[in-house]
Amino acid sequence: MYARFLRRAIEVLNPKEGEKILDLCSGTGRAASWMAHVVGKDGEVVGMDIAKEMVEVSNDRYGKLGKLIFLQKDVTEPWDHRNHFDAILTSFSLHELPELGRLGVLEKSYFALKEKGRMVIADFNPEVSGWRKPVLLGFFKLFEKQNLNFLSFELKEMLRKAGFKRIRTFCVLSGLFQITVARKS
Ligand SMILES: C[S@@+](CC[C@H](N)C(=O)[O-])C[C@H]1O[C@@H](n2cnc3c(N)ncnc32)[C@H](O)[C@@H]1O
Repeated sequence: MYARFLRRAIEVLNPKEGEKILDLCSGTGRAASWMAHVVGKDGEVVGMDIAKEMVEVSNDRYGKLGKLIFLQKDVTEPWDHRNHFDAILTSFSLHELPELGRLGVLEKSYFALKEKGRMVIADFNPEVSGWRKPVLLGFFKLFEKQNLNFLSFELKEMLRKAGFKRIRTFCVLSGLFQITVARKS
């Protein structure tokens, strides 16, 4: 189901041949590797992750694909990239970032995108309501206690603050998860 959700997020991102894509907090590099096949030899996919082990696994698995590089990087720290990427994907990672760092990461993403760039965020639904709210609350209390604040994170407002426009959300799995797409212009 996780792989299906990731594939759906990539469908929404709609990477194209020749594009430059960032997979923000790329984990073991699976999504980045799928996108590398799409962008082809004229494109570029960069994965960034804070964990040395994740970057090592990614390089072992996909390092030979070409046009795909993995950087060990804390994405809450300053980035070198400006007006560089056509698209940014981040899956199941925004909720893991420290609450005070999330807006900064969205701002860095905004500046790293080209003028017509787009960003897709696939994660838990911070606006979850009804019976789903206690379900997610229970899950976070058990497995993500330190990130419980994500369930009151104003994602759309933060994206607007960062400069993003034309923000749209798609609910997945009865609204427990959400795919959000936001554009730089
Ligand atoms: C739940 S995993 C998701 C990985 C991948 N995006 C996926 O969908 O399979 C979250 C990832 O975020 C990374 N991460 C957490 N905080 C980070 C930070 N400050 N900078 C970069 N990566 C971070 C973790 O190392 C982990 O690989």
